[in-house]
Amino acid sequence: MMTPRKQVISIVGASGFLGRSLHSYLTGRISAKYEVIGTYFSRNSNNLLYKLDIRNYKEVEKYILMYKPDYLILTAGTKDIQLCEKDYQYAYSINTKPVEIISQVIEKNQLATKFIFFSTDYVFDGERGYYRDTDTPEPKTNYGRTKLLAENLIRNSGVDFKIVRSAAVMGRGGLFFDWILEELRNKQEVRVFKNTYFSPTPIGLLNDMMLKLLIDYKNCNSKIIHIVGEMRLSRYDFVMFLSGYLTGSRAYIIPEDIDYSRSIFQKDLSLMQSDFVKGNQQKSFEEYIKTELMND
Ligand SMILES: NC(=O)c1ccc[n+]([C@@H]2O[C@H](COP(=O)([O-])OP(=O)(O)OC[C@H]3O[C@@H](n4cnc5c(N)ncnc54)[C@H](OP(=O)(O)O)[C@@H]3O)[C@@H](O)[C@H]2O)c1
Repeated sequence: MMTPRKQVISIVGASGFLGRSLHSYLTGRISAKYEVIGTYFSRNSNNLLYKLDIRNYKEVEKYILMYKPDYLILTAGTKDIQLCEKDYQYAYSINTKPVEIISQVIEKNQLATKFIFFSTDYVFDGERGYYRDTDTPEPKTNYGRTKLLAENLIRNSGVDFKIVRSAAVMGRGGLFFDWILEELRNKQEVRVFKNTYFSPTPIGLLNDMMLKLLIDYKNCNSKIIHIVGEMRLSRYDFVMFLSGYLTGSRAYIIPEDIDYSRSIFQKDLSLMQSDFVKGNQQKSFEEYIKTELMND
């Protein structure tokens, strides 16, 4: 009897923080039924990834036709908010244009590839928080604008897609998470903003929900899914929470206020979890964060 072909999951951007973690998580869990492949652009740490520039139509087409992935998860892009503000063209070229290219390649070649795009809380205006997946986005930054343009391109294409909006993903390898752990361990005082709110998302939760989404893709009717932690916190609340579980930290945590007239920060970018997450989440925010600290 012929062994059925494994389903191919391609993570485009598997050398980045989210992509790397998802690539190794999925590889370790679903290898019997699926084959997990990935791409990099400038950092190929494990030599297993395929080099791809997502801005180049020909390269992208060659890659997609070579592997004909059943699922293409796009985690490549830039989340450098300052850089996006300074250079809209760059932000567009890396956050928007590749989405158009990938959609066109899938459509033109009539592939059955399901396209899962990673978007962000920054598509919202950050004025009131508690944004639902049904709320109308209104970005205030170039980062958010270029991500929303990408969302709209997929929605208007003929491709089978899901848009995953996540926020402030927390885990080892993440810039903010690593920085704050270092500060809490090594400094006497740590100053953090208390008048800005967000939905920190443990990377373990994001990976668990992505696996569930891949397995249940057909039964998940939503096109836009907010995969975020269930807690709306200020940065100060989050750091207090972390320090409570961190052994050996004696840092004094000082709350500070952002001056919004001089900052690119937004007041409240908190997202409400989508029903898909509420229905599938098995562990609490606290349990995920504790696990992440144990890996430290
Ligand atoms: N991290 C978060 O908290 C968060 C929250 C919500 C949404 N997101 C979204 O998730 C995505 C990934 O975030 P991240 O934190 O993993 O970012 P990251 O660590 O900066 O990773 C970016 C990825 O994009 C790749 N890349 C950059 N330029 C490329 C190009 N020209 N061609 C192909 N690949 C290119 C990088 O490859 P090399 O490293 O090999 O150059 C890397 O794999 C972003 O699009 C962001 O909008 C992230």
